[in-house]
Amino acid sequence: MIPIGAETPQAIRQIIPWLALGHGIFNALVMLFFCYQGWLGHVIRVNRLAGGPPPLPAVRRHRRFGPWLVVLGWSGFMAGLLIVLIDKGRVAAYPLHFSLGFSIVLAQAAAWGVSRKIKGRGLTGRAPHRLLGMLILSLYPLQVLIGLAILL
Ligand code: HEM
Ligand code: HEM
Repeated sequence: MIPIGAETPQAIRQIIPWLALGHGIFNALVMLFFCYQGWLGHVIRVNRLAGGPPPLPAVRRHRRFGPWLVVLGWSGFMAGLLIVLIDKGRVAAYPLHFSLGFSIVLAQAAAWGVSRKIKGRGLTGRAPHRLLGMLILSLYPLQVLIGLAILL
């Protein structure tokens, strides 16, 4: 069982700030990976609109990294939940950071889900996928700012 809230032993309480810092660094790195993923997507789109052959290295990387990035994004979210549970004995202790984090992981799952509809050179799914990607990339920096406000 995880010791939670007031029951958490002092020895564990002392490492909570370090866990929170690790959570922040991890999620900031994941955000940078998502930026790279977005840039790969941009390369794919620019090539498609120019009518050229698909940029295979970028397509392969974007396809290979995507599901792993979603797993990393979800892990960072779950880690946040776990730290707050140990610290405060409940989740959603920071409602804004919590709901924005939840929106980010939902958008990640949706971007992954929609990407499975993209087939060959077809247009199906591409526009919503790109919008969801841009939503993820816009929400992350806000979440980082709110996280830093909690941490500092
Ligand atoms: C969540 C994880 C992601 C997965 C699983 C994923 C998957 C995919 C797949 C399978 C394609 C089709 C590639 C092809 O043409 O064969 C694609 C295209 C694309 N992705 Fe992602 N992607 C992810 C995240 C993102 C993010 C964060 C962005 C940022 C905006 C993004 C932007 C794009 C764009 C612009 C395209 C090209 C669409 C077009 O041709 O108009 N993707 N993605
Ligand atoms: C630089 C970036 C970030 C920093 C500095 C940060 C910092 C923090 C801190 C200090 C806490 C509270 C831990 C405690 O109880 O002491 C927390 C909780 C949490 N974080 Fe982050 N965070 C960051 C990014 C993210 C991201 C990107 C996500 C999700 C995608 C996320 C999801 C969560 C969640 C779900 C919680 C629990 C909130 C609750 O249940 O009240 N965080 N974070």
